[in-house]
Amino acid sequence: MPSLKDKSVLITGAHGFLGRHVVAELKKHSPSEIIAPKRDECDFRKREEVDALLSSKMPAFVIHLAGRVGGIGETKAHPGGFFFDNASMALNLIDSSYQNGVEKFVGLGSVCSYPKFAPIPFRESDLWEGYPEETNAPYGLAKKMMMVHTQAYSEEYGFNGIHLLGVNLYGPHDNFHPESSHVIAGMIRKFTDAKEAGSREVVFWGDGSPTREFLYVEDCARGIVLAAEKYDSPAPINLGSGMEISIHELAQKLKTLTGFVGEITWDTSRPNGQPRRCLDVSLAEKEFGFKAQVGFDEGLKRTVEWYVNAKKEGEIQ
Ligand SMILES: NC(=O)c1ccc[n+]([C@@H]2O[C@H](COP(=O)([O-])OP(=O)(O)OC[C@H]3O[C@@H](n4cnc5c(N)ncnc54)[C@H](OP(=O)(O)O)[C@@H]3O)[C@@H](O)[C@H]2O)c1
Repeated sequence: MPSLKDKSVLITGAHGFLGRHVVAELKKHSPSEIIAPKRDECDFRKREEVDALLSSKMPAFVIHLAGRVGGIGETKAHPGGFFFDNASMALNLIDSSYQNGVEKFVGLGSVCSYPKFAPIPFRESDLWEGYPEETNAPYGLAKKMMMVHTQAYSEEYGFNGIHLLGVNLYGPHDNFHPESSHVIAGMIRKFTDAKEAGSREVVFWGDGSPTREFLYVEDCARGIVLAAEKYDSPAPINLGSGMEISIHELAQKLKTLTGFVGEITWDTSRPNGQPRRCLDVSLAEKEFGFKAQVGFDEGLKRTVEWYVNAKKEGEIQ
């Protein structure tokens, strides 16, 4: 198993929500160097920029986290951009990693790659049993092609690449932008803004019936680094917490935590997204000992506290 100690590691997307937590986790494993370019130093959609970076830095590990990411409104509005950006980054990074002798490539895929109606809990063996939910299919399929690419290079060239299927994340430094946030950050923002403005109502998309699984971002970062060191198979593997909660119940929890006292209205003219999401997380525990540690209520509390403080400090507008 390749250890990260004294190895140079390229992390793409290192300055994003998940990336900054993975950098913090990685530091505990004493790599010789963490290479963390910003987008203006290397646009991973551009092959020549990717090749220049890899051939000059020659990292031993590549942890690929850069992605075009967004909630249902964004993925529905920009299916082409989501497909192209995510697919082109993965194509460039995997082939350039192979050409430049990278020892191990860790790709972060997504629960959005699963079929819309996969049986609950989603098992890795169910990945090809149907088409993903329409609003995020181009994103989910671009991620799935990264998995196919890794597997094909493993088979033909003995390339050591792994593919982790990450579930919905939440936690400090999430994207709280009103247009591009995911559900937890979006709800926290709406509730706190409404409370501040003295509004009596907040409106959420859909009817509240879909279910989701959530993984606290620091747990996810720990899982990625564990897998980088301890998992060496091209077979995809779920990274989640195994819990499941309805969007309706989530809204009630966040209403309480944020102290909003008005009404919640469900806008049923808006899409619900995938009906249910919950991963079978047993393989990650068996293969590399990963189990989520931060309970959902505790994670939500930390996230709300972080958001309120970041807003007070002017870190979030
Ligand atoms: N958030 C979730 O719930 C979730 C769940 C499952 C999997 N994932 C995966 O986790 C990874 C990280 O997601 P995140 O939530 O941390 O998103 P994020 O905060 O938006 O971070 C993505 C990072 O990728 C960078 N990036 C995007 N396009 C790039 C390009 N063309 N060239 C160079 N850098 C580029 C962004 O840089 P800029 O800031 O400069 O744009 C940003 O630093 C993604 O691959 C995502 O698919 C996320």
